[in-house]
Amino acid sequence: MLRFPSILYYCVCALALCLLSACGSEPERHKVGVSQCLGDKWHEKMNTEMQREAAFVGTIDLHIRRAGGNSRQQCLDIDSFISEGVDLLIVSPNEMHGVTAAIERARQANIPVIIVDRKIDRDLGYVFIGMDNYKAGLMAGEYAAAELKGKGTVVEITGLSNSSPAINRHRGFAEALANHPDITCSAIIDGAWNGEVAARRLDSLMAQGLRPDLVFAHNDRMAGDAAEVAGKYGAKTFFIGVDALPGKGFGVDKVKNGRLKATIINPTGGDRIIRVADSLLSGLNVSKNTLLESTLIDQDNVQLVEDQQLQMAQEESKIVQLGERINAFDKRYSHQRIYLYVCILAFVLLGVMFIFFLRAYRAGLRNNARLVLQARRLEQQRNQLALLTKDTDNTDDAFSVHLREVVDEGLSDPDFGVEEMAAKMNMARSQLFRKIKAAYGYTPAEFLRAARLKRGAEMLSHSKMTVAEVAFAVGFSSPAYFSKCYRAYFGQNPRSVSKEENKAEGEE
Ligand code: FRU
Repeated sequence: MLRFPSILYYCVCALALCLLSACGSEPERHKVGVSQCLGDKWHEKMNTEMQREAAFVGTIDLHIRRAGGNSRQQCLDIDSFISEGVDLLIVSPNEMHGVTAAIERARQANIPVIIVDRKIDRDLGYVFIGMDNYKAGLMAGEYAAAELKGKGTVVEITGLSNSSPAINRHRGFAEALANHPDITCSAIIDGAWNGEVAARRLDSLMAQGLRPDLVFAHNDRMAGDAAEVAGKYGAKTFFIGVDALPGKGFGVDKVKNGRLKATIINPTGGDRIIRVADSLLSGLNVSKNTLLESTLIDQDNVQLVEDQQLQMAQEESKIVQLGERINAFDKRYSHQRIYLYVCILAFVLLGVMFIFFLRAYRAGLRNNARLVLQARRLEQQRNQLALLTKDTDNTDDAFSVHLREVVDEGLSDPDFGVEEMAAKMNMARSQLFRKIKAAYGYTPAEFLRAARLKRGAEMLSHSKMTVAEVAFAVGFSSPAYFSKCYRAYFGQNPRSVSKEENKAEGEE
């Protein structure tokens, strides 16, 4: 039977299990490593979008590292993601060649890789998401040719020369201008995506007298800083940039206030990247090459774009607020759920304890009643015995003394009965019956049996004889019948009185 502590133990275990499972079986989470070549505004915008989308997906934990424009650092970042056992890698490679080996190691470790924004020199079975940089260069070239009406001089300020956007933007720009023989390219400057570098290098060319009609810089940072330099020289140069980030002082704002003639949207696409990552992690097929749409912004559409960007920024901040509120609700809800289960646990424990104590109380009552009954029975037996002892042993008239002598003498003989008793008393049976009945209220047979049993009781408690031996010694021909009469007379089993049998039981 289960005892209370074990019942309690099982209850607690069962409820704890319920509690744990009720706390929600979390879906499998995925660790995703993001290796960014840079931590500039453009890449940080991508990071913010990825984090927001990952929060929506709910099963992706993003770990972001920034290599600071250093390919060797980016290789180290990728290698540590591999050794941490990420489930997927997102890489914006600093250069075409510099990080290929590390990406290859990730592929060898069977880590799915999504290359974003910039490409590498080899197809290692990765998925690419980013803008078509060749198309962006082409767009800039055609726009420049139109602005220059097919005639003039241009300078191109490229991004880091080994990076794929710089290579492809240049390719597109050069191809567009190839159709316009009267447009000449005066210089190509490597600005390394850096505004200060671009400004310094343009400055030294302009100091030598260079006055280009148009400058195409591969990003707005370089275009903006270079435009400052041209302003310093009083040159009427048009600037075209790339990126079109929202916010004061960034690309769209620069077009709006006339510092840049145009810029080309380079979508960061963080949300898209995470959706593709989620599909890959769920084992779904995804397109190997996702090209993000791009548009040129100039005075004609800048207001529209700015309004849209503003509206998007407001909606994004509302989404962020909503997310924070949902998180707060979620936390409160999970706390309340835990309180609820703790309360249920406490109630069940109280219930179990109540049932246990109730049962213990009832058992106590039953035991008490049994003890009272036993005590009453013992009392009755004691009274009966006392009465009997008085009746049969303590009467000392001549008849009683003679009767006791006759009975004491004959009781060990099983053949000694009422007949023999009457003969020894020199009385007729009927006379003996009347006398004994009058003196003790018993029949002669009852008197004889009582004497045998009392002698037996004495023997059992004072000798080493067994019940059977005593039964025979006091004239019973069957020990079982002796025991039965003994129980009826004394209210207890002769075995419990026998010294010998108690000893034997103790030794067992
Ligand atoms: C940021 C950036 C952007 C550019 C992109 C290309 O580092 O230079 O301005 O459009 O990278 O990868």
